[in-house]
Amino acid sequence: MEKVIEESLQGTSLELAQKENNTKKLFIESYGCQMNFSDSEVVASILLDQGYNTTQNLEEADLVLVNTCSIRDKAEQTVRKRLEKYNKVKRSNPKMKVGVLGCMAERLKSKFLEEEKIVDLVVGPDAYKDIPNLLKEVEEGRDAINVILSKEETYGDVSPVRLMSNGVTAFVSITRGCDNMCTFCVVPFTRGRERSRDPQSILEEITDLYSRGFKEVTLLGQNVDSYLWYGGGLKKDYDKATDMQKATAVDFAQLLENCAIQFPKMRFRFSTSNPQDMHEEVLHVIAKYHNVCKYIHLPVQSGSTRILKEMNRQHTREEYMALVDKIRSIIPNCSISQDIIAGFPTETEQDHQDTLSLIEYVKYDFGFMFSYSERPGTLAARKLEDDIPEDVKQRRLQEIVDLQREIGLERTQRFIGETVEVLIEKTSKKSENEWSGRTSQNTVVVFPKENYKAGDFVLVKITNCTSATLIGEAVNYSEMHS
Ligand code: 5AD
Ligand code: SF4
Repeated sequence: MEKVIEESLQGTSLELAQKENNTKKLFIESYGCQMNFSDSEVVASILLDQGYNTTQNLEEADLVLVNTCSIRDKAEQTVRKRLEKYNKVKRSNPKMKVGVLGCMAERLKSKFLEEEKIVDLVVGPDAYKDIPNLLKEVEEGRDAINVILSKEETYGDVSPVRLMSNGVTAFVSITRGCDNMCTFCVVPFTRGRERSRDPQSILEEITDLYSRGFKEVTLLGQNVDSYLWYGGGLKKDYDKATDMQKATAVDFAQLLENCAIQFPKMRFRFSTSNPQDMHEEVLHVIAKYHNVCKYIHLPVQSGSTRILKEMNRQHTREEYMALVDKIRSIIPNCSISQDIIAGFPTETEQDHQDTLSLIEYVKYDFGFMFSYSERPGTLAARKLEDDIPEDVKQRRLQEIVDLQREIGLERTQRFIGETVEVLIEKTSKKSENEWSGRTSQNTVVVFPKENYKAGDFVLVKITNCTSATLIGEAVNYSEMHS
C-alpha cells in the first residue's frame, strides 16, 4: 500500500546536519506518502557526500529537488505549480538546477524534460544512487535522466540523514514496490516490483536510532505484511529460492518480533497492511509485546465485494470483516484505520451503502478518504470508464467522511477516564505549556508539561477529548521509561 499522506507535512523542505567543507546548497522538498519523505532523507545523505548542504531558502539554492507523488491527479497538479514557482526563482538565479524525483519522474519519464523546460534532471525512485553521475551530466550542460526500476535496490546500505526530525520518532523502510496491482493504483508502475530489505541492515539502522535517543520506529513499506527476506531478490521469485534460503527466510511476523525483543525500550509501529497478507502470527506478535503498538492501518477501499473485485483487491467484504473480527479477538484494544475511495467506476448507490455499513461494522478509529482519480496507464483507466459524475463522487465522499468523523469521535471518547501510556513527541501546536504525544493506539494526547521531557514514556489520565485528540494529565512515568 502506498502510505498515508500527512497533510501538514506536504511540501515541507528539509533541514539537516551540515558538513563544514560543503559549498553547494540543496533545497529539497517532498510531497506524497511517508516513503517519499524517507527517500528524500536517502537523497540528502547521498548529496551530503557530493558537497551539498541543505538550505530552506529556495532563492539561494544551487540545486532544487522535488520528490513527487502520482497517486491522484491533484498531487501531480501541486507539483506542476511548484515548478512554476521554481521557474520564477530561476530567472533571478539562472545557475540554479532543478530535478524531479519520485513517482511523477517515473510515470512521465523523459516527457517531463519536454513538457517542463525548467527541469534539468529526472530521477525515478530506484535510481537515487546514480544522482552524482547524473549531476555531472547536468553540470556539463546536458539534461539527465534515470528512471530504471530495480529488482534489488532497497537503499539498505545508505544511512539516511534524519530530516525534520523530532528526535523521538523515525521511519525505517523495510520493503519497496508493490505486486498487488490494484486496478486504480499507479504505485506498481512508479515503484516497481516488491522487494524486501535485509533484516540485518534494518536492525542496524534501528540500533543507530536507539543509540541516538529515538524511542519509536515505524516500519515502512507499501505492503509490510508481505515482507520476506530470503537473501535478496523479488518477492515474486521466492518460489525459485533454494531450500536453504527458504529455511532461513525471515517474514514480517519474525522481523517485528525480533525488533520487539531486541529493543524493549522502543515502540514499534508499521504501515501499511494489506488485508490479504495480514497473517494471524503477526496479530499474535502485536498482542504479545507491549512495545508493539496496538494499531493497524488496514485500507479497505470499498465495502462492496463487487467493487473490490473490480479493484482487484484479493478479498471480499466478508473476508475483510472476518479479519477484523480476528483482530478484535486477538488484540481487544487495537485501533484500526482505513483508506477508502469513493466513486470508483461503476459504483452504485448500493455499493456506496455497503461502504457506509462496513464503516459502521468495523468502527474505524481513523480514516483517509479520497474520491476516485483516474490514473493513466492503470488497469482501471484502460478497462473502465470513469463514469461516476464528480458531484456524486463528492457527495458520497462527504457521507463517508461524516460517518467516519462520528465513529472516530466515539472511538476517541472510549479513552475518557482511562490512564494511557503516551510517548511525548513535541510541544503541542495549541499551547507552549503542553506536550503532544500518541498512545499505543495512535491517538494524539495533549497534557500539561510539568517536568516531563520529549522522549519520555508517561502515563496520562484522560479527562476530556475533541474528535481526534485526547486531553489529560500525566500521573507518572510508565514501565517503558528507562
Ligand atoms: N484515486 C483515488 N485514491 C487513490 N488511492 C490510490 N489510488 C487512488 C486513485 N487512483 C488511495 C487508496 C490508497 C491511498 C494511499 O490512496 O485509498 O490506499
Ligand atoms: Fe496499495 Fe494496491 Fe497501490 Fe499496492 S497497488 S500500493 S496495495 S493501493
